[in-house]
Amino acid sequence: MDQHIAEAIGRPDLIRLDDRLLCLRFETMKVVSALAAVRHLLDTGAVRRGDTLLDSSSGIYAYALALACHRHGMRCHIVGSTTVDHTLCTQLAVLGATLERMEPSTDLKLDQKRRVERIHEILAEHPEYHWMRQYHDDIHYLGYRAVSDLVRKSTGGDGLTVVGGVGSGASTGALARYLREDSPDVELVGVQPFGSVTFGAEHVADPEIIIAGIGSSIPFGNVSHASYDTLHWISFDAALAGSVDLLRRHAVFAGLSTGAGYLAARWERSRARERTVLFIAADTGHRYVDTVYARHREAVAVDSLSPRPVADRAELALPWSRMRWNRASGIEPRG
Ligand SMILES: Cc1ncc(COP(=O)(O)O)c(C=O)c1O
Repeated sequence: MDQHIAEAIGRPDLIRLDDRLLCLRFETMKVVSALAAVRHLLDTGAVRRGDTLLDSSSGIYAYALALACHRHGMRCHIVGSTTVDHTLCTQLAVLGATLERMEPSTDLKLDQKRRVERIHEILAEHPEYHWMRQYHDDIHYLGYRAVSDLVRKSTGGDGLTVVGGVGSGASTGALARYLREDSPDVELVGVQPFGSVTFGAEHVADPEIIIAGIGSSIPFGNVSHASYDTLHWISFDAALAGSVDLLRRHAVFAGLSTGAGYLAARWERSRARERTVLFIAADTGHRYVDTVYARHREAVAVDSLSPRPVADRAELALPWSRMRWNRASGIEPRG
């Protein structure tokens, strides 16, 4: 029996959608990561019960950290982006976490930069606060060991391709790292929005938005570039089509990064007949009812979409591009 709701929420479901397509479905993905990170900080004496943990978040990390703080008797202060919705704000308030929401901005890049600046201001006023640095501190990998154990136990691990959106890089990076300890042939496929600097696509703008939670306008230390075999860059419209198809065909109601991951996973599944493809569903669809699901009639058929094969980032183009990354250790200057 779980001793706290965070333990239940952090444990994903592994769902077989067909013979070679699996969905690793979280209610809120980062709970498992935040719980293990906070436990590690307490165990190593870096923080004590009652201390304040601080971080910036576009949504699901805020909730995850608030739950981890509730579990471990810590205070929690979040600098939230404009994508933190009313439901989450309300939950955080009742959970006892304090939230500062940045001024509404349609420019998510600006929003991200402003949040980091605000964190520095808060730390100058409160040097006793502990900044979690979810984007840079690899203690956020630790919690995914239990998840990789579950995946290994259920699938055997060999011949597995893992597909997931790359935000901080912790979930995909950690799953690949831990699964490869026993199964070195595990392949990792990262999913990005256009405009993200993480794998060098800042020169291609998506007229809609950077997908909340994945991609970035600043480099992140937790992204282990050398772990990724393949990358997909997926537009908002294509991710919307993926999300709607995932609900219609498989009854999985998940967020936009999941729709993008599902699209990439279907493609990888069709290309490698001997492999099983697992994609990560990081959150549920509730936050995306108006922006995605209410537009279901606009969704194009997923089978009509295919990625543009790209050998060089200079060739990246909307709505969907795919490139072999070949575990390159960083971003080479664009050719
Ligand atoms: C909805 C969603 N999907 C995927 C991710 C990517 O996870 P990670 O930060 O582990 O790369 C995030 C991260 O915030 C997210 O919010």
